[in-house]
Amino acid sequence: MSGWDASAQAWIDVQGEAGDFGRAHVLDGPMLALVEGLAPATVLDVGCGEGRFCRMLSARGIATCGVDPTAALIERAGALHPGGDYRVATAEAMAVGQFDLVVCYLSLIDMPDLAAALARIVAAIRPGGHLLIANLTAFNTAAVHLGWHKPLIGEPSFPIDHYLDERPRRTAWRGIDIINHHRPLKSYMQALLGHGLLLRHFDEPPATGGPADKRDRYNRVPNFHIMLWQRP
Ligand SMILES: C[S@@+](CC[C@H](N)C(=O)[O-])C[C@H]1O[C@@H](n2cnc3c(N)ncnc32)[C@H](O)[C@@H]1O
Repeated sequence: MSGWDASAQAWIDVQGEAGDFGRAHVLDGPMLALVEGLAPATVLDVGCGEGRFCRMLSARGIATCGVDPTAALIERAGALHPGGDYRVATAEAMAVGQFDLVVCYLSLIDMPDLAAALARIVAAIRPGGHLLIANLTAFNTAAVHLGWHKPLIGEPSFPIDHYLDERPRRTAWRGIDIINHHRPLKSYMQALLGHGLLLRHFDEPPATGGPADKRDRYNRVPNFHIMLWQRP
């Protein structure tokens, strides 16, 4: 069995409370710093999973709402955060009102209909509010199934293929077995620009902690970028 429903327990186990390597050692620091800089009163986390980032924001006194279509993850989020606001819905079909900040923390790649999802996501940002995105880099989703190429002689390298072709891709690790979507970076940029959003910040943060070998491998072929957009 594959898909988010079947992978929910493995996802919960892999994340724990600290988050996996990419969250704990690459993304959480800069994502939290950006949220703190904006000081939003209200945040919507779209594709919130089991609610770890919502809990981190809630601990900072921010009113959060988490939306995710995977019922077992929303159930877990509610159990870990009594009184939290968690709802089962896809981004494409959610109806949630407006927020100072909308967050998509490694969830845009999981949404099958990017145009429909972004229409709802942008509608959920109040005028003047922000959209904070962490996403997998497109060169990585075009390549990761090929893995590192390790010749007998010479340096290892990381091959990329079919970069421009949007496609679903099955990906499995540590008991998680899901379909997400490779899209070239331009698909995201053109869609966000098409909504009239303004890019305020862009980063490809390095790994700053964790085991040295993992950190070095990550910094050689980084997986993630962060974008902060503003709705005029
Ligand atoms: C890689 S996980 C990230 C979860 C969480 N944001 C985190 O960083 O721990 C991707 C999440 O996107 C959710 N998802 C899948 N399809 C979605 C959709 N159409 N709309 C919103 N979320 C979706 C999945 O259920 C899953 O929880």
